[in-house]
Amino acid sequence: MPNQLSMDQQADVLEEQQIEELGKKAIGKSLFYFLSDGEQTLGDGFKQGPGQTLLMGEDPRLPKMPDKPTLVDFFKYRFAKAWPYQQHLLQSANLAQKNGLPEKMILGCLLHDIGVAGFIRSDHGYWGAQMIEPYVDEEVSWAVRVHQCMRFFADEDAGYPYPEMYKKMFGEDYQVEPYIAEEYERARNHKWYMSGRMICVNDLYAFDDTLVVELEQFTDIIGRNFKQPKEGLGNDNTPASHIWRTIRRPCNAL
Ligand SMILES: [Fe+2]
Ligand SMILES: [Fe+2]
Repeated sequence: MPNQLSMDQQADVLEEQQIEELGKKAIGKSLFYFLSDGEQTLGDGFKQGPGQTLLMGEDPRLPKMPDKPTLVDFFKYRFAKAWPYQQHLLQSANLAQKNGLPEKMILGCLLHDIGVAGFIRSDHGYWGAQMIEPYVDEEVSWAVRVHQCMRFFADEDAGYPYPEMYKKMFGEDYQVEPYIAEEYERARNHKWYMSGRMICVNDLYAFDDTLVVELEQFTDIIGRNFKQPKEGLGNDNTPASHIWRTIRRPCNAL
């Protein structure tokens, strides 16, 4: 079939289209990108070259997303893929499943670091909980929020010693900030304490790079325990929709 382009040729054409499309768009980064590099600036801000408009809508540099994206689509097309991050979530959920946790808490383990893998590291428990709050059982988002503080406090009876790795990561004499200590005090007296603790117990830092857990292992659990909005994440009208839209289109000008 002489008129049919080979896969390589099709990929070349697509790449050319993307470069062309990108050339017509001025892309400004948010303050946050610069702050992360220690700079208090917006860079070039709204600087536009001749014939350019500001990027609004889909970002041609990122994988195309379906019109009505699901949680699984965000795993596939946005969340950090490089080892070990998605595997950290998948292996933690796999362990929770092996340990016989209830389904909703297996989902909690699968999503516990969605803040890190999908959005922002700093205060990742709070961001992650906010992202999933409209779509999961209240106990799950509560547990995701408090696992951040609980990680710093041992509960040997529950099978959670202070992580040796934290001594290396944060220093032998690291002291948590007051808001973390206060959050832990509240969590320790909460009726769902053990759910937060179970996330910590199954929060695997000893990654097994010989084990590859696939997201498909949890398709049914996600289906039963994550209330996927029919409009797609970001297109629905919840207090978290804007976060999903921002992850989808991180460089929209406004
Ligand atoms: Fe975490
Ligand atoms: Fe984790």
